[in-house]
Parts: sequence; C-alpha cells; structure tokens
Amino acid sequence: SFVVTEACIRCKYTDCVAACPVECFHEGPDFLVIDPEVCIDCGVCVPECPVEAIFDEKDLPAEQREYIELNRRLAAQWPLITAAQDPLPDAEHWANQPHKRALLTE
Ligand code: SF4
Ligand code: F3S
Repeated sequence: SFVVTEACIRCKYTDCVAACPVECFHEGPDFLVIDPEVCIDCGVCVPECPVEAIFDEKDLPAEQREYIELNRRLAAQWPLITAAQDPLPDAEHWANQPHKRALLTE
C-alpha cells in the first residue's frame, strides 16, 4: 500500500485526493491518511503531492516506518475525503519543517 508521511502534517494540500482513482483518503484536522484496504497501489498520488509526503510502503525511509500503522489506524477512525480542498492556511510555512510528528492531532 501507499502511505502518507510526516511532510503532510499541517499542510494538507489534497492534490493527492483529486488524483486518486478510488476513495481511500481519510481526513483528520491537520493530516490525511490512506486506507490500505482500499488503495490499489497505482502510485498516481505520489508526484501530485507538493511536499512529497506519499511513499510506497516498500520505499519508506526507516524513520517513517511508524506511518504504516498510523495510516491504517487513522483511516478506520477519520472520515473519507473525496474532493480536493484548499490547503491549511499555514501550509507554506509548515511545508519544509522537519519533526512535525508531535504536532499531529489525532
Ligand atoms: Fe489512491 Fe493510487 Fe495513491 Fe493508492 S496509490 S492512494 S489508489 S492514488
Ligand atoms: Fe498531504 Fe500531500 Fe496529500 S500534503 S493532503 S499528502 S497532496
């Protein structure tokens, strides 16, 4: 499956949602996740994300491994998002900030 990682936190550009051929993105207050049961592994969302937050789980950097479980768990919890929307107001500021994991609101 494909996995949304740390770079998305506090940005939520949502270009990924517009590109996805199935309905597998779920939305929280400051982050999106992919439902691994619904994702068809097509990869079209990857180049759409302006902050390169989406990875094939097989290519995940080691420090982002926890996002596999996080996507699975939060996808079951959060509502579906099926259309793109405006990014969060401070998206540009947060786009290149490292260490955003602690800022994630569940
Ligand atoms: Fe959707 Fe394809 Fe991305 Fe999976 S890999 S989230 S199916 S666009
Ligand atoms: Fe997040 Fe990138 Fe999608 S910032 S909402 S994964 S386009």
